[in-house]
Order: sequence, then structure tokens, then C-alpha cells
Amino acid sequence: GWVRSVRSQKEVLFLHINDGSSLESLQVVADPSLEKDLTFGSAVEVQGKLVKSPHRMQNMELQAETIRVVGPCDTWSFPLKMKERHPLEYVRQFPHLRCRNNTLGALLRIRSEATAGIHSFFQDKGYVHIHTPIITSNDCEGAGELFQIGVSWGKESAEKTHFFHVPAFLTVSGQLHLEVMAGAFTHVFTFGPTFRAENSQSRRHLAEFYMVEAELSFTESLQDIMQVMEDLFKTVTSTVLSKCPHDVELFHKYIAPAQKVMHVTGKNCNPVVLFSSSCRISYSEAVEILKQASQTFTFKPEWGCDLQTEHEKYLVKHCGEVPVFVVNYPYDLKPFYMRDNEDGPQHTVAAVDLLVPGVGELCGGSLREERLPFLESRLQRLGLTDAYQWYLDLRKFGSVPHGGFGMGFERYLQYILGVDNIKDVIPFPRFSHSCLL
Ligand code: 4AD
Ligand code: MG
Repeated sequence: GWVRSVRSQKEVLFLHINDGSSLESLQVVADPSLEKDLTFGSAVEVQGKLVKSPHRMQNMELQAETIRVVGPCDTWSFPLKMKERHPLEYVRQFPHLRCRNNTLGALLRIRSEATAGIHSFFQDKGYVHIHTPIITSNDCEGAGELFQIGVSWGKESAEKTHFFHVPAFLTVSGQLHLEVMAGAFTHVFTFGPTFRAENSQSRRHLAEFYMVEAELSFTESLQDIMQVMEDLFKTVTSTVLSKCPHDVELFHKYIAPAQKVMHVTGKNCNPVVLFSSSCRISYSEAVEILKQASQTFTFKPEWGCDLQTEHEKYLVKHCGEVPVFVVNYPYDLKPFYMRDNEDGPQHTVAAVDLLVPGVGELCGGSLREERLPFLESRLQRLGLTDAYQWYLDLRKFGSVPHGGFGMGFERYLQYILGVDNIKDVIPFPRFSHSCLL
């Protein structure tokens, strides 16, 4: 492991060694004569006897017989300091070293357990996991936030021709590929990296983030989709709490501003009951609530306009700082694939966003337009008919009502741990003007 602390007394030397398996370090008790080049941060191999510890705070300690410094560490130039609680902004400057810090260590263990929990949740329910492609020729969300792929060898030829003969991009969502698969399997999911060229330095946007996406065939109600969002949240959060209690506790103690996450993952809190008080409102109701607010917003709330961060914040507060499902958004606000509610000429679509305290939008989903004529006319109006012939085919050959959603994995971690900035819940954050390592 790596040395986390060295304390030398006259007759005995105490070391704390950590190998990343838990927040707890192993106490090593050694003869002071063994203290050579043993500095904070160095990598060591210790051999000895594991014995019951006389100290209250730990079960076992290692009585060292030999200590070998595998890799020394120059503490003066090492940016992390012994026993210091470094601010998250400070360690962010060292993406190659910050995993050796307690907070990032805890975060990465939680991230790993949450990832496994997400896979088990879906597998246990009979979903088939699909590896949707990272390189794609379509823009699922149609929001123009695409990273285009180019070739860096042979400058001239790369400029003249596309490697794939068509423009290719990093995916913004695996949804359309999941929809293909939902034509053969009733329930499918994917969980992979997603890319968006958002020119934003916000504390909840990344250029590369992980998205969990599910697609369900034979469903005609948004309620089914919301239920999966809720069940996913509860199951994964329960898994994290039972697998990493000490790591989660660290966030409660030192990271989340007072009480912020107590209702989500705090002591005596049960993520299973969190949603019992959740709120469900329509987009139109949301706009009414915002219009009647005494608060003045930078962006004036208006039917037909996107809900801004300040609006989401207000709605969550208005509902009592609980998760809020907002359903049925304006037709023109949403991508081409969303199902027309037929409540007026192209008035609203069956979309749902899940907003949560402190983070805002955590999940986005919808029923998909499975009716060929509706989809054909919408694609035609958007001038996308040729590009989406294959998508129209799905509606010609055994089309079924279906729907799904995506959950931003980093936003999920932010929410359950109360981490203010999304850059602190991913090992190597990528955002505009920054791609370290
Ligand atoms: O709402 P979005 O754009 O939905 C979709 O992409 C759908 N095609 C998903 C689906 O139905 N299969 O993105 C889904 C979620 C958001 O609610 C948000 O949590 C997260 O992805 N997200 C981001 N997270 C971090 N950085 C960004 N730039 C994000 N953009 C979206
Ligand atoms: Mg969205």
C-alpha cells in the first residue's frame, strides 16, 4: 500500500498504510530502526504478523518484521500533504494524484459500487444490456452539441474525405440504438460514456459524462417510465449505502453542506421512502407556478420556453425539496422522437424530466412516437426524412408503443453525496477549455 501517516516514537514506529480497498488504513507497528525513507506517499511492502489490536479504533494491526520501500515519495514536492484536508478545487488540479486523497478515494469506490448496482438492477429485472456505439452518424437530441470525429494522420487526405464517408460524431445518447434493440427485446439498457459540446462551465455539465439509459417496449404510459426511474434510484442508492457506509459518511461529514443530503443518504434515512413524497406536475402547471412566484427570474417564465436552472430550483423548493417529475412538455421544445399527446395541433409531447434538489434535472425520458404517419410528417417538416429512413423502418416492421429515459450518472452521484461540482464525481473531468491528461 501507500503510506498515509508516519509517527515515530522512541521505542515504536506507527505507520498507516492504505491500499485503496477502504477508507480505513492498516496500522503497522514497527521498530524505529526500520524507518528509512518512510515518507508520506511512498509505496511500501510490509511483512509481519497480523495481530489483534489493543486500540479501540481498530480490530487488527500489523507487527512489521520487514518494511521495503517499493517507491519513495518526495514529500516536499508531493502536492498532497499528510493529515491535511485539501479542498476539492485544490486536488482537481492534480488529476493524476487526487485518487490518493480520501475524498476521491471514497468517491471512486462509491462510483464503482453504484456502477455494479445499476447493472444488477437491470439484469435482475430481465433487461438485456446493449453496447450502443460511441461513434455514430446521427444526432439523437438534435441540439447541435456534437463533437465531430476527424482523422489526424495524413493531413491532406483527412481534410478531403470523411473516414466513414459520412460525417461521424461522438454519441450524445444511445437511445436510438436502444430503440432498434427494443424491436427484438422487450427491455434493454445501456450505460456508457456520452459526449456533448456544451460550452458551459456550469457545476452540472461535462463534455464527457456517463449515462444510464433504458428502453421499454409494450408500454403506453409515462407512469411506467417514471416507475423505472424511481426503482432504479432506490435500488442503486440502497446498494451504495449498504456496500460503502463509511465512504458515504465521509461526504456527510466533510463535503455536503449541512443537512443537504440527510434526506437522501443520511443516517436513519431510507432511500426507499424518499419518493413517497415526490411530486408530479405538468409542464403547463410548472409554468403557472413560476409565473405566480414572488421571486423575479433572470429568464421570464413563458409557456413554450425551456425551464432554466433557476426555474427548476424554484419548482423543487415549491414542492418541498423533494424529487419532482415534470411531464408533457411543449411539442416544439423537444426532439423529433417524442410522442404527440394529441391534445391540440402539435401542442405537447409525452415527455418527463425528473428534477431533484441541489442538482436540477437528473433524468429525461419520454414515450416515443411509434405511429408511422405522425413520425413521417414530423421528420419531413424537419427535413430529416432521408437520414432517418431506418428509424421509419422500425415503425413499419412490427412497431410497438415504447418509451425510455436517460439518467446522468454524475448528477446521480452529486445528488446522493451532496457534491456541489460535477467535476468532483468523475475521475477525469472534461469540460470546455479543460482536458487534463
Ligand atoms: O435529457 P437528456 O438530454 O436525454 C437524452 O439524451 C435521452 N435521449 C435519454 C433517453 O431517453 N434515453 O439527457 C439525459 C440526462 C439528463 O437528464 C442529465 O442528467 C444528463 O443526462 N446530462 C448531463 N450530465 C452531465 N453533463 C452534461 N452535459 C449532461 N447533459 C445531460
Ligand atoms: Mg433533458
